[in-house]
Amino acid sequence: MPKKKIFITRTVPDLAVKMLKKYKDFDVRMYKSDSKIPRKVLLKNVKGCHGILSLLTEKMDAQVMDAAGPNLKIIANYAVGFDNINLADAKERGIKVGNTPCNEVSESVAEFTFALLMARSRRIVESDKYTRTGKYEEWKPMLMLGRDVYNKTLGVVGLGRIGQQVCRRAAKGFGMKVLYTDMRRNPKFEKEYKAKKVSLNTLLKKSDYISLHVPLLPATRRMISTKQFKMMKKTAYLINTARGPVVHEKALLRALYKNEIAGAALDVFECEPAIDCDVKDRYELRKLDNVIITPHTASATIEARDAMARLAAGNIIGVLKNKKAPTLVKIK
Ligand code: DGY
Repeated sequence: MPKKKIFITRTVPDLAVKMLKKYKDFDVRMYKSDSKIPRKVLLKNVKGCHGILSLLTEKMDAQVMDAAGPNLKIIANYAVGFDNINLADAKERGIKVGNTPCNEVSESVAEFTFALLMARSRRIVESDKYTRTGKYEEWKPMLMLGRDVYNKTLGVVGLGRIGQQVCRRAAKGFGMKVLYTDMRRNPKFEKEYKAKKVSLNTLLKKSDYISLHVPLLPATRRMISTKQFKMMKKTAYLINTARGPVVHEKALLRALYKNEIAGAALDVFECEPAIDCDVKDRYELRKLDNVIITPHTASATIEARDAMARLAAGNIIGVLKNKKAPTLVKIK
């Protein structure tokens, strides 16, 4: 019997490869590199595949699916987000799609979100730069003044798994008040964390810290733009560990340069991996001291990456072996 071909588009934790290789009728190949697979190489390697383990850096569209051909049954994304996969193209071809939502990723991203929030409010990155460049000569009462987070209001946009973990830390760990927006009310959550569901406009007007936790969808693309920045407090900070295009980056830059908000901490960017969409623009994120920028590493912990590997491989095994796939995406 011919083996079922599985292609992994980039080096992922060994755990995933080992799980897949346990099946003697699977022929598992991986693009062994820590760089993005060139499109041509991807199209060549997926030929005849039954399963693809993809990363968020690869656009998985009709072209890839057709290059794989009719054998392809599952695209298992190694990420919670799946905006790199064209769901309509997959549905049309009867291909299942998997992602990796799990506690490990939620906790890691929530921890990182909080690290960004704290680092921005207490000016940790600026202070580090100041100290290591030899500027610290004497103690001064007004040096690197930040703001407490205690008793401040956190506005969480999107109360999914990650949004909830961020709120939990804010309410229970840091004595913050919590506002949230979501399609659904969560009365149990509201009771436990004294959280309040409000409209996006109210959240923007009332929050001291605004943290984004929505997936990238047509409805969320650039949902934070000029109008929204104008509603925010001048002392507000924006934190984005969700997806870059949720924020209209040029509008963010304008708001920062005009001091309409106090600062931002961004793990994701609108034209990622570029950190400024238009480098010719005189506004640049990298030039601003009140902005922290990190390279999409909110879920970069050993625990989260292993859990993601387990789920992605599990989704392939589930679909190809007619078992229960742990985390398939519901395609409408
Ligand atoms: C995700 O899971 O969607 C993150 O952005 C990458 O881990």
